[in-house]
Amino acid sequence: MRFINPYLFVVTTLLAVSCTSQKETASLKDVYKNDFYIGTALSADQIEGKDAKVDSLIKKEFNAITAENIMKSMYTHPQKDKYDFALSDKFVAYGEKNKMFIHGHTLIWHSQLAPWMEKIADSTEMKAFMKDHITTIVSKYKGRIDSWDVVNEALNEDGTLRQSVFLKTLGEKYLVDAFKLAEKADPKVDLYYNDYNLEDPAKRAGAIALIKKIKAAGGKIDGVGSQGHWNLNSPSLEEIEKSILEYSALGIKVAFTELDITVLPNPWDLKGADVNQKFEGNAQMNPYPEKLPDSIQNKLAERYASIFKLFLKHKDKISRVTFWGVYDGQSWLNDWPIKGRTNYPLPFDANLKHKKAYDSILNLKKAKK
Ligand code: XIL
Repeated sequence: MRFINPYLFVVTTLLAVSCTSQKETASLKDVYKNDFYIGTALSADQIEGKDAKVDSLIKKEFNAITAENIMKSMYTHPQKDKYDFALSDKFVAYGEKNKMFIHGHTLIWHSQLAPWMEKIADSTEMKAFMKDHITTIVSKYKGRIDSWDVVNEALNEDGTLRQSVFLKTLGEKYLVDAFKLAEKADPKVDLYYNDYNLEDPAKRAGAIALIKKIKAAGGKIDGVGSQGHWNLNSPSLEEIEKSILEYSALGIKVAFTELDITVLPNPWDLKGADVNQKFEGNAQMNPYPEKLPDSIQNKLAERYASIFKLFLKHKDKISRVTFWGVYDGQSWLNDWPIKGRTNYPLPFDANLKHKKAYDSILNLKKAKK
């Protein structure tokens, strides 16, 4: 029989036990607590705590929440004279109960508008809508919501202003007006401009010009929200870093508000792709329907690690990093831009198990200790 050193046996057993329990008790929100908030986006079911396992994961890992859909105007303001706050009340109560940072998403956005809003055709009616909408919602949650996306996605890719129903009826003044109305309703709440592709040089220049204009016209703007719907290679770390530096040089906070990293092919990247081609059900566009290969799992982990390393380098400028969803199975990227695919963009998989990406984000902090 081989001799087992009883001392070594005890030490290794203790070490093994303590490593496992450390792994199980460590959480993103705890290890990053001195750096920035770690948030997630909640679905209606999650706000209502319908799945106990998901609920305990949310409470363990995250200290900031955004409603993925239910605070968009089609839900909060379905008819001209009718607001519906049933779910947003539950969302805010959830955040308060769990002592989380509560972010409001979103007040003025061209998408997910109630049909009646899309029909507004003149400036008087649009002005009245903006005043009523922003004042009612922001006042209702005054002192309870910590920050708002006042305007979402007002820019085109080339940095010019999007021809939204707001721009068409009111001209560019709608932007500063929105920020002024929000400030009036809750002078203390942080006000953000939120958009995607904000690392892209042309769009970034447009966003910087827009933020400067809002400030010059007397609007209060506290931060920029970069959505962070990224992929394995782009945007480059250099462009992300330049963006953090340039936005914070405006004297505002930088938040990453909807972070996820797609691992699937993008129809717009297919050079020469026929735009009329049907991508749904096309196996080439859905390469990992059962399982993500290890090589890609590793790439995703490395990409998340390098992004969070950069975030840590600039933690003094970053207020919050929010993932767009709790786990892969729930991600909007399973259905966008092509319906019915299997994507793997978040740190937790479809069974709520943490992935290598999660470990790589957590280990950045452990390694520092
Ligand atoms: C998405 C939601 O995740 C989906 O469930 C919904 O069908 C469409 O909107 N930019 C935003 C978010 O600001 O509100 C969007 O959320 C994703 C892109």
